[in-house]
Amino acid sequence: MPTPEQVQQYDELGYFIAEDAVDPAVLPELLAATRRAKKKVRSGRMDVYTHWATKENSEPWAIRGLLAPEFEEPIFAEHLLSRPIMHYVHYFLGNELRLGSILIFTNPYHEDWGIGWHRDFGKDVRNGTEEEEMAVLNRPLYSLRWHLALVDDACLELVPGSQRRYRTDRERECLANDRNGDIPGGMAIPLKAGQAVFWKGYAIHRGVMKKDVERLTIAASWRQHTPEEDQPEETDVRFKWRLRDDVRDVLPEAMKPYYDRWRVLQLG
Ligand SMILES: [Fe+2]
Repeated sequence: MPTPEQVQQYDELGYFIAEDAVDPAVLPELLAATRRAKKKVRSGRMDVYTHWATKENSEPWAIRGLLAPEFEEPIFAEHLLSRPIMHYVHYFLGNELRLGSILIFTNPYHEDWGIGWHRDFGKDVRNGTEEEEMAVLNRPLYSLRWHLALVDDACLELVPGSQRRYRTDRERECLANDRNGDIPGGMAIPLKAGQAVFWKGYAIHRGVMKKDVERLTIAASWRQHTPEEDQPEETDVRFKWRLRDDVRDVLPEAMKPYYDRWRVLQLG
């Protein structure tokens, strides 16, 4: 459960740090599984959805497909379902959930890597009017996301409070053109291994990775399930692998109902 201070910070600044999002005994196992997953992806033996930093698909910066059977790592599904995570998820989203996502953010080894300033707007208009932008920002919270650092990680930078207001002129310039420029008030959110940051993707943010500074961070989320509002849609290309029959089979029993709620909304 978050403290009142964490809830307030989440609302006002768009993030809070949690010390208890993972059982300390599980942390080394998650770290080991994450290292194995990265090694497998870099070996070229895996055909899972990966965000590559090189044309040759040799250096990943984000690894999806962690729930797929070829990883043989049930610990990622277990993390999503874990008691500490569920305490936060139920608090913010209630009890009706559907499967969100889980991936690894990591540093490519060949060069520094960054994802410039953006808001996670999905299909929503990115350069809209104040009215359009505020309509998105004012939506009630429907998903909860977190980054869990498995080694110390200061790669996430965000502009606290920007999830609640229209962009400034300088922010607009950085969102549209000067993606790696400086934004007044923008700051890194350093995490120690084992700490998690729960944060809002509507806040203006970026990822800044160094080739020789190891980043092994789990980025995950849960979605609120609202059957009266949710419409079937074309499956996001990043999630098509989850349509495979063999994915559901390896999920923990407790996850299958949440998977099925996601699956039924997919047009493929
Ligand atoms: Fe993002």
